[in-house]
Amino acid sequence: MHWTGNIARSAIALSLGAFTLFAGAPSAGAQSNTTATSEQDWWKNAVIYEIYPRSFQDTNNDGIGDLNGITQHLDYLQSLGVNAIWLSPIYPSPQVDFGYDISDYENIDPQYGTLADFDHLIAEANKRHIRVIMDMVMNHTSDKHKWFVESRSSRNNPYRDWYMWHDGKGETATSPGEPPNNWESDFGGSAWQWDPKTRQYYYHKFYAEQPDLNWNNPKVHEAFKQIIRFWLKRGVGGFRFDAITTLFEDPEMRDEEVLKDKNGNPILDAKGKPELNDTRTNNLPEVHPVMQEMRHVADEFDSNQFPGKRVLIGETYLPNIAELLKQYGPPGKPEFELPMDTQVGFINKLDVAAFRSRIDDAEHQLDGNIPLFVFDNHDNPRLDDRYGDDLHNIDIYRVISTILFASRGASLFYYGDAIGMKTTDPASKEDVKDPVGIRDWPRFKGRDGERTPMQWDNSANAGFTSASVKPWLPVPPQYHDVNVQVEEPNPDSLLSWYKDLIHLKESSPVLAVGDETMLDTGNNKVLSWMRQNPGSPAVIVSVNFTPAPQTVSLNLPGSPGANLTTLLKTPGESDPASLGAIELLPYGVYVGEVKP
Ligand code: NOJ
Repeated sequence: MHWTGNIARSAIALSLGAFTLFAGAPSAGAQSNTTATSEQDWWKNAVIYEIYPRSFQDTNNDGIGDLNGITQHLDYLQSLGVNAIWLSPIYPSPQVDFGYDISDYENIDPQYGTLADFDHLIAEANKRHIRVIMDMVMNHTSDKHKWFVESRSSRNNPYRDWYMWHDGKGETATSPGEPPNNWESDFGGSAWQWDPKTRQYYYHKFYAEQPDLNWNNPKVHEAFKQIIRFWLKRGVGGFRFDAITTLFEDPEMRDEEVLKDKNGNPILDAKGKPELNDTRTNNLPEVHPVMQEMRHVADEFDSNQFPGKRVLIGETYLPNIAELLKQYGPPGKPEFELPMDTQVGFINKLDVAAFRSRIDDAEHQLDGNIPLFVFDNHDNPRLDDRYGDDLHNIDIYRVISTILFASRGASLFYYGDAIGMKTTDPASKEDVKDPVGIRDWPRFKGRDGERTPMQWDNSANAGFTSASVKPWLPVPPQYHDVNVQVEEPNPDSLLSWYKDLIHLKESSPVLAVGDETMLDTGNNKVLSWMRQNPGSPAVIVSVNFTPAPQTVSLNLPGSPGANLTTLLKTPGESDPASLGAIELLPYGVYVGEVKP
């Protein structure tokens, strides 16, 4: 089973020297800026790498990754072509949800280092032209945060209305009664937690240790603006806003509706409980003015100097492209630069028609705004689990990464993808670290499987930590063959493929910003598209979604008989003589420049 996070239960759940022209037709609300410098525009074809700091590199032998471990690998990230790293939360935290339960927003958890280590990381990243993106969790804090400690201390405390407190139903002197309504936590069970001291329930969309903030309180807005300024002043390149669509809830507190199948019967979950819709607790419109405020704060730090535009990235699991479009903001009121487009990367099946239509949506239904494609993260099983077939996994990763990096827009990928790390679930319940995996074992084994230590080399513990130390999660058994040290010198490795593809995205103006047009649209085995930018030859891309060889013939309007110059191809493929006969290996990829 896949953790569906905030995905509505109804779904399943460069430094390009001098590009100044953004191809496309931005709406008034779009954030393109045709006169901006490249520092300002860096995000429009950004290559963003998600680091799960706990699992990247341990330098102090406690089995947990740390900030100095990230600094140690900046040269590797630079060689990969990364220009921004997003760090999942590194703030002080009781670590119930591994950092997504924050107890102090203006410091570093001692497990990961110090503010001095953080400043050093920023300085070293800057030297390599890599921006550092912080995770910003505004939906909830830890129950150990001083605001909540105050809030729960008495009904009259000044922080009481910083959180969502409500009376239960049918409370008596001896019993709390029932929770205020049927809202459920994304991690299961009621989203309401009874607090005996002040005899009220508080709301938590996630774990009970993660009480939701009350965004109807202006003081909460002001507090977060200060927090954002604190980090922007330290030189961060932007933020990834966690669970942002869940900031507000229905003010009338109406029950969520039960999801029904086509016959009108309730849809039951694995435990036989009716599944609920989440329209009362997710994607409420009140979030938009909040993001406009945060955009305004980030814009105070705009500059033409590195890190240039400070970028706001959204964790935006949304049901369709129309909802995604709203996240960019209405005309004149910008919100996110890069709300994640989860429509494409989480199709979870190599289905040509589905990819074609969703990529086309991103090209034509986002009013010229910049899409941010993403295929995996620390909440979902890795690519092997969702797209692999165990026989052709490396070739399938080539297919996925080509869609990610050779499409218009910014690309976000996860540590370990570039070397082909596999999902490795815990062997037994006793080994599980993610609380939801302990609770739901064995139906759902939690998210440990996609959070295992980074595989650097084939020494004990894959170079993540010293041989004598027990890493916080076990190192997957394939690390002897799947690691950076083994793959780096091999031109046919997956890592070399990622490097070549990313460098192509960053060095070709067409791949950096060019328009995208689907080709050969009746083909349900091979996905082909063309990228075009004025003044440069077009680039065509074909990716074979099947385990059999395929030949495609592409007819480009106005270019009959055009020839091709190969830019990148799956190892072992031949160079096609013309657009009329591109031969692809099983799950093969071809990228070529069209010579008229
Ligand atoms: C989304 C994060 O990616 C996930 O790891 C976390 O558990 C929830 N938000 C709650 O913060």
